[in-house]
Amino acid sequence: MIAFRHFTKTFASHPAVRDLSLEIGGAEVVALLGPNGSGKTTTLKAAAGLIRPTSGDVLIGEPGRPAGDPGAREALSFLPQRVAFPESLTGREVIEFYRRLRGVDRDAADAALKLASLNGSSGRAIATYSGGMVQRLGLAVALLPSAPVMLLDEPTAALDPDGLCAFYSVIEHRKAAGQTILFTSHQLGDAERLADRFAILVDGRLAALLTARELSDRLASRGVLRLRVEHEPADLLNRVRRLSPEATQSGDQLIVPGPAGTRPAVVDLVRESGASILGLTAEEGRLDVFYRDLVGGRS
Ligand SMILES: Nc1ncnc2c1ncn2[C@@H]1O[C@H](COP(=O)(O)OP(=O)(O)OP(=O)(O)O)[C@@H](O)[C@H]1O
Ligand SMILES: [Mg+2]
Repeated sequence: MIAFRHFTKTFASHPAVRDLSLEIGGAEVVALLGPNGSGKTTTLKAAAGLIRPTSGDVLIGEPGRPAGDPGAREALSFLPQRVAFPESLTGREVIEFYRRLRGVDRDAADAALKLASLNGSSGRAIATYSGGMVQRLGLAVALLPSAPVMLLDEPTAALDPDGLCAFYSVIEHRKAAGQTILFTSHQLGDAERLADRFAILVDGRLAALLTARELSDRLASRGVLRLRVEHEPADLLNRVRRLSPEATQSGDQLIVPGPAGTRPAVVDLVRESGASILGLTAEEGRLDVFYRDLVGGRS
């Protein structure tokens, strides 16, 4: 369990997180989303006990202990947004160090090394690793203990497609085993694939707390259909606007915002008008548009 109760963090006079109340139960995966600087890392660091709340409380585990207390730290594992290890150590030595620190058995360390997928480089000094290899080692270290609470700050930022698959599968197993996971991401795909709920921070405030279903409904209503057309009648755009008032035309492209459900009717209308459709793409709502909606108070 992770509980934020009126959590506020102010740096100098700048409020990074304001009055956040959020409770995350066992076997739940929550994605913390929001634009750059919206307070996601500050929130995770407070849960990890690395920074103290200016006001309010952050509790970890069952029973809830204040973040930063030894019992709370023992119950969690934290992946920082920027990992750093002593450059002269090898990947294997780093895993071994954390294995002993967290009292984990050797099998788990082997699994972590596999996840880090250092491709024969686990005996080389970290100074010689690529940026992605260091991030992957960080993720492997964070996933080493089966702590009840996992805090992952942009775990997928440096992962290639193979790494992403391996990560998704580890998280699904951990969730099935009852772990509570709070992670941040800028990738909608990660969030939709993994999370049960979405907490969206904008400017340090919890702007929305949605279930997976609610988020996909909101995003679907902000999708865009693009059609490349030719031989269209002069009034085609006006006709399309009866179905989607925000439709626009740019050259041979018709841009039709709106929910996915209206798209078949738009395509039928364009065809029946005598126009030829040369190409068609559809895009679901994007997070940046969603954040702007939240800021604009339209949500
Ligand atoms: N140690 C600090 N001292 C002063 N200001 C800070 C500190 N840490 C964070 N901030 C400020 O707090 C705000 C929130 O930062 P935070 O790192 O939590 O954002 P974030 O949502 O994680 O952003 P990103 O998506 O870029 O990682 C920012 O305005 C940032 O400048
Ligand atoms: Mg951050």
